[in-house]
Amino acid sequence: PYTIAEPCIDIKDRACIDVCPVDCIYEGGRSLYIHPDECVDCGACEPVCPVEAIYFDADLPDEYEKYGADNREFFTGVLPGRDEPLGSPGGAAELGPLEVDTLLVQNLPEGIN
Ligand code: F3S
Ligand code: F3S
Repeated sequence: PYTIAEPCIDIKDRACIDVCPVDCIYEGGRSLYIHPDECVDCGACEPVCPVEAIYFDADLPDEYEKYGADNREFFTGVLPGRDEPLGSPGGAAELGPLEVDTLLVQNLPEGIN
């Protein structure tokens, strides 16, 4: 799958959402996250991100490698303040923006981007 990495944090341009054919890019509080099992690897999102936050997993630069697991964590982990994992909602539009992030993203300092 593709992954949204650190440059998205606190930027959230959202151009990626408009081009994803399967609506698998979910909005958190500080960042967006690609659902690794719903992404069909079409690659449409990668070139439209103005801050180059999106990478094919295997092409993630070393400093962003942890974001592959972290995008998955957004769906399989229990996010702060929630009772159960998001799982596979099957579409981001219906779910709407969530005011929550993974611990990794939540704990990054303000002004990181
Ligand atoms: Fe973030 Fe880039 Fe999408 S900044 S919201 S990954 S277009
Ligand atoms: Fe959507 Fe990007 Fe995957 S456009 S299908 S998240 S490669």
